[in-house]
Amino acid sequence: MIKVRVPATSANIGPGFDCLGLALNLYNVFSFEEIDKGLQFEGCDAEFANEDNLIYCSMKRCFEKIGYEARGIKIKIENEIPVSRGLGSSASCIVGGIIGANEIAGGVLTREEILELATEVEGHPDNVAPALLGGMIVAIKEDNHVFCSKISISDGLKFYTLIPDFRLSTEESRSVLPKTIDYKDGVFNVGRVSLLIAALTNGDFDLLRVASADRLHQSYRGKLIEGFDDIKKKCEDLGCLGVFLSGAGPTITVLDKDGNNKFYGEINSFLSILSNEWEVKSLDIDLEGARVL
Ligand code: HSE
Repeated sequence: MIKVRVPATSANIGPGFDCLGLALNLYNVFSFEEIDKGLQFEGCDAEFANEDNLIYCSMKRCFEKIGYEARGIKIKIENEIPVSRGLGSSASCIVGGIIGANEIAGGVLTREEILELATEVEGHPDNVAPALLGGMIVAIKEDNHVFCSKISISDGLKFYTLIPDFRLSTEESRSVLPKTIDYKDGVFNVGRVSLLIAALTNGDFDLLRVASADRLHQSYRGKLIEGFDDIKKKCEDLGCLGVFLSGAGPTITVLDKDGNNKFYGEINSFLSILSNEWEVKSLDIDLEGARVL
């Protein structure tokens, strides 16, 4: 039996659309076993317990790449990462499935090859790269290669995720994005994402408010999330350093100074009067990424 633990991720980090992401200490654990025949699931809703399951499809892609014929597969899922909330649940299934299959086949693929295969399956690298490697990652894809680098974030930051009770698929959230952007908006994001990386690396946290602004995706997607503008404003009024959609949403990630104990209680009171249920999780960055337990 092979057990793989994969962290949740928060992608984009405001202006870093499709290229920035970080891993958080919330985990899915997948167990894999080669069995005599067939496909078996444990801990999986009946509607996903079939050959179209993303974990299984990712395993098959890995087996095909390696040229390994599995007799049959059993997959057990222990889920902590909420589904379709912008916290990298799909990325965890893809990365977990590929690592599990690679282990069954004898550990043939390198981490780099696993990352490239996972990016091929997901379509963009900003969730799968931190899920695999941990920490905060800049990752881009060019001609089927993934170029990525880890950013060392200075100490003193706290991460919160505000997770609503409704789902939003990445597909729907990408469908509201425009086909083209204004040159000025491109320049706006290039400046912000550069400043964001410098501020996080150097510990210039007071710059995060301005550095986490974005004009490429959040204003379009925010309309799909009831209360988004009000919640963002409330977090900013409470003195938070950066507030942005986690991946394609609907979860909102908040960066705050470590030690600002007021935020957790106050944001919970604010969210409790909204029409949807919101859960506030205080999380830390996961520096390790996916690992075989
Ligand atoms: N960068 C992706 C997006 C993350 O914003 O659509 C979600 O998969």
